[in-house]
Amino acid sequence: MSSEECLAGAREAALILTGSRHAIAFTGAGISTESGIPDFRGPQGLWRRFDPSLASIDYLNTDPKGFWDFYINRFNTLNNAKPNRAHLALAELEKLGVIKYVITQNIDNLHKSAGSINVIELHGNYTTVYCMKCGAQYPFTLALRKYEEGENPPRCPRCGGILRPNVVLFGEPVNEINRALEVAALSDVVLVVGSSLTVYPAAYVPLVVKEHGGKLIIINLEPTDYDDYADVVLHCSASEALSAILNHVKGIMADK
Ligand code: APR
Repeated sequence: MSSEECLAGAREAALILTGSRHAIAFTGAGISTESGIPDFRGPQGLWRRFDPSLASIDYLNTDPKGFWDFYINRFNTLNNAKPNRAHLALAELEKLGVIKYVITQNIDNLHKSAGSINVIELHGNYTTVYCMKCGAQYPFTLALRKYEEGENPPRCPRCGGILRPNVVLFGEPVNEINRALEVAALSDVVLVVGSSLTVYPAAYVPLVVKEHGGKLIIINLEPTDYDDYADVVLHCSASEALSAILNHVKGIMADK
């Protein structure tokens, strides 16, 4: 989609958002690629280079050392990343009262860093780890320091149990999904940003809004299976689309 086509859709998306009663955003890894964090299934996606089973509970249980060897690089990338214009635009849309919640699949903490308040993190957050034996929680930086000092897998200072990231691994339940689906059921607009919409139960969230008669807006570089179901589709970058939408929203609100 050319920039002009994309920007045309931005105004339509802004009109839907400013006319909404309870709009939410649903985000995936694509909103963070412009912060330097690779996504999973895009052309440079992580799962095109690594086997997704590396991010499974089975792998953590069978080879915690190999698990941390894989994860520590990803977590270092997350630790150095900053919010981009897309995250900042969503935070401002929340401040303007247009977006009520951000429901994210991302563990990178960038929505909170950008200033979003109502954030539901379906797959957890990389900034804390916990002990698999006693449950004690620690900042990720403790595990990082231990790993860098040669302690792999990093262990609990209290009981010596193995530390693990506070994220949902493949094969584990998504505990926040019920809360997310309840919020979705109350919503009349869902703005999907940067997700292939291929991983469940997370991908049910936009569906629930649509099934309750709500409107679906999709911002994604590549086509998704939900495109035909959407009211507006913008195949352009998250930062470009959301910056344009934010400008239109401000203009529409100023004219009201
Ligand atoms: N702007 C807009 N879209 C983008 C951008 C960008 N700058 N960069 C990438 N994208 C799009 C890609 O085209 C892709 O379709 O974002 C989408 C990201 O899809 P995935 O990589 O599948 O990420 P996501 O949908 O978040 O994956 C869901 O899968 O591996 C698990 O737990 C992991 O939370 C993740 C879940």
